[in-house]
Amino acid sequence: MSDIATIKIGNKTYKYPVLKGSRGPKVLDIRTFYKDTGMFTYDPGFTSTASCKSDITFINGEKGELRYRGYPIEELAEKYNYIEVCYLLLNGNLPSKNEALVFDNELRHRAFIDEGLRKLFDSFPRTAHPMAMLSSAVSALSAFYFDHLNVKDDKDFKEMAARIIAKIPTLTAFAYRRVLGIPIIQPDIDRYFTENFLYMMRAYPGGKMHRNIGKKAPREISKIEIKALDTIFTLHADHEQNASTTTVRTVASTGAHPYAAISAGINALWGRAHGGANESVISQLELIGNIKNVDKYIKKAKDPDDFFRLMGFGHRVYKSFDPRAKILKKLQDQLKDELNLDSKLLEIAHKIEEIALNDEYFIKRNLYPNIDFYSGVILTSLGIPRNLFTAIFVIGRTVGWISQWMELKKDKKAKIARPRQLYTGA
Ligand code: CMC
Repeated sequence: MSDIATIKIGNKTYKYPVLKGSRGPKVLDIRTFYKDTGMFTYDPGFTSTASCKSDITFINGEKGELRYRGYPIEELAEKYNYIEVCYLLLNGNLPSKNEALVFDNELRHRAFIDEGLRKLFDSFPRTAHPMAMLSSAVSALSAFYFDHLNVKDDKDFKEMAARIIAKIPTLTAFAYRRVLGIPIIQPDIDRYFTENFLYMMRAYPGGKMHRNIGKKAPREISKIEIKALDTIFTLHADHEQNASTTTVRTVASTGAHPYAAISAGINALWGRAHGGANESVISQLELIGNIKNVDKYIKKAKDPDDFFRLMGFGHRVYKSFDPRAKILKKLQDQLKDELNLDSKLLEIAHKIEEIALNDEYFIKRNLYPNIDFYSGVILTSLGIPRNLFTAIFVIGRTVGWISQWMELKKDKKAKIARPRQLYTGA
C-alpha cells in the first residue's frame, strides 16, 4: 500500500502516490504531473529524481553503505572473487561451486577477439588515449554481433552479457599494447579472468613471461597482484544510477544495440568528474610533488574563484564515507610492503587526507576521499600506466552496465528516456 502526498498549486490540490522500495527514501510518483497540472518539474543533475526501479544495487550515502543484490560490499570483496560477483549481479544469486566453474570457463572461451576487429587497433595513432580506442572497439563489436540487437530470451541475454564482460579486458590490453607499439597478445585460456588481463599486458610476443630481469621487464604475475586487481574490479562492478549507467540505460531505452549502449557508457565514464578521476588523482599528486606544497593546493581547492578541485574527494551520494575507499585504503596498507607502493605519492596522499579531513571547508560539505583517491597508487604498483586507469574502471563496471541494460529490457513498462526543459531562449 502506498501513501498519498498532496500538492497544492494555487487553489487546486493534486494527489500523488508515495512509493516505498525495499530500502532507501520513499519516492513520489509524479508520472501524471504534467498531464494533471500543465507544469514540468525542474531537477538538473537528477539530484532528487529516481529514473527507474531497480533491484541490483543499493547505496545508503549517509551511512556509507553499498550492497550488490543485498550483499554488503565488504563481504563480497573479502570472500568472493570478481567472477562470482559478476554472476551475482547478472543472476541475482551467488553461484554454486559448479556454476562458478562453468561461468569462469565460458568467460575464458569468449575472451578472444575476431581478427577483423584486432586490425582496427592498427589504425589508431599510438598517441590515442586507451579510452578512445576502447569505446570505438566496443562500438565496433556491435557490427560483429549484430544478432544481439534481437535478444529475446534469458539464454540470449546471458550470452550477450558474457561476451562483452569477457572481451573488455582483451580490448583494454590491445589498447595498452597499441600505445607501446608492441604486438598484441591473445588471451591464455588456462588463466583466470584477472590474471589473464595482467598476462595480456605483460607477456612477450609468443606469450612468454620472464622472471627478475630488471624493473622494466615483464614480470611473473603474483597471487597478491591478482587479488589486488580482482578486488578493484569488484569495488567498481556496479553503483546504481550513476552518470555512465544512466547513459547506458538512456541509449538502451531507444532500442539501440547493447554494445552501442556500453560504448556510450564508456565515453560517459571517461570524464574527470566520474571515472576519469582516478587518472587525475595521480597527476595531481605528481603536480603537488612534495608534502610542503599540500597546503597551497588545499587553499586552491577551497577558493571558489579557482577551478582547481581536489581529485578523488567528494561524491554525489556518499556523505559520511565511501565504503569502497575504506576497503582500498585497508588494501593499500596491507600491500605496502608486498607491492612496492610509491612511498612519495603515498606520503603526499596521506598529508592531503589528514588536512582535508580536519578542514572546515571539507567537513561542512561532506567531502571525503572516494574510491579514486586510493585506486591509483595500487594500480601504479601493478605496473598499470596512468592513462589506463579509467579503462580498468571500465573492466570492472561492464557487468554493472550490462545487468542494468538487461533489467531495463525486461521491464515491460520502460519508456524511452526523454526529459523536459525550462526554455529560456528567444
Ligand atoms: N574539491 C573541492 N571542493 C569540492 C570538491 C572537491 N573535490 N567536490 C565538491 N566540492 C565543493 C563544491 O565546490 C561545492 O562547494 P559550494 O557548495 O561552496 O559551491 C560543494 O563541494 C558541492 O559540490 P558539487 O559539485 O555541487 O557536488 P556534486 O554532488 O555535484 O559533485 C563530484 C560530486 C564527485 C562530481 C565532486 O565532488 C567532484 O568533482 N569531485 C572530484 C572528482 C572526483 O573525485 N570524482 C570521482 C567520483 S567517485 C567515482 C565515481 O563513482 O565516478
